Amino acid sequence: MQSIDTRSRRYAAGYDGVAKFLHWLVVVLIAAQFVIGWTMPDIHKGTLPEGLIAWHLGVGATLIAAVVLRIVWRLTHRPVPASVSPLLRIVSHVTHGLLYLALIVVPVLGWANASSRGWSVKFFGVLPYPSISPEGSSVGHEMGDIHGALAWVLLALIALHVAGALYHRFVLKDDTLQRMLP
Ligand code: HEM
Ligand code: HEM
Repeated sequence: MQSIDTRSRRYAAGYDGVAKFLHWLVVVLIAAQFVIGWTMPDIHKGTLPEGLIAWHLGVGATLIAAVVLRIVWRLTHRPVPASVSPLLRIVSHVTHGLLYLALIVVPVLGWANASSRGWSVKFFGVLPYPSISPEGSSVGHEMGDIHGALAWVLLALIALHVAGALYHRFVLKDDTLQRMLP
């Protein structure tokens, strides 16, 4: 039987419904951001935030809100730890930590780049987020390049993470993948 300490006694084994919903919502939004980011037109001085660029900003605003909610939920709702070897526990903690870091840094750099171009990032096209980089700032401009480069790092982390999930499912044949499934 799995031992459950008193701090996590309140929570069901694995992840609760909200954590699962937010995990998969973020997956869908990130997939959309990669597709839009790679297909939208090149951006130059004076480019207007229209068409696919507007979609990248709009989906991005929802993604930022979902990541914030996800982190707040995670900090207040600890899942019961998976029963895995100490080595795998360290590898998964490091990967999850880096994924969370990338989930913050990549969107914030994109947001800063949008602000430096004078583009407003609005939640569902209505609620404007504050500008986080002065309009015309060269640093904000460079953040756009770092945003694009770090998107590749995020993709590599996701590939590692998915490989880990499949390793659990098909090699170790344990129930780690099921912890994040409905
Ligand atoms: C994890 C989420 C995101 C991913 C995977 C992503 C991915 C990308 C990719 C692949 C590009 C094209 C880079 C290039 O071809 O050089 C791009 C550009 C851009 N993204 Fe994102 N993006 C994300 C979130 C956001 C958010 C939240 C915003 C703002 C609200 C944003 C704003 C921008 C802007 C303004 C550019 C143009 C940068 C430039 O060319 O200077 N992105 N993004
Ligand atoms: C955009 C892609 C993804 C991101 C950013 C992401 C991110 C994360 C993060 C940060 C965690 C840690 C949850 C926590 O303990 O707070 C997690 C857990 C998990 N993810 Fe993902 N994930 C992605 C895609 C996937 C996919 C495609 C799968 C399935 C093939 C998957 C399966 C899992 C599983 C099973 C867990 C729970 C692991 C455990 O119990 O220790 N994820 N994910």
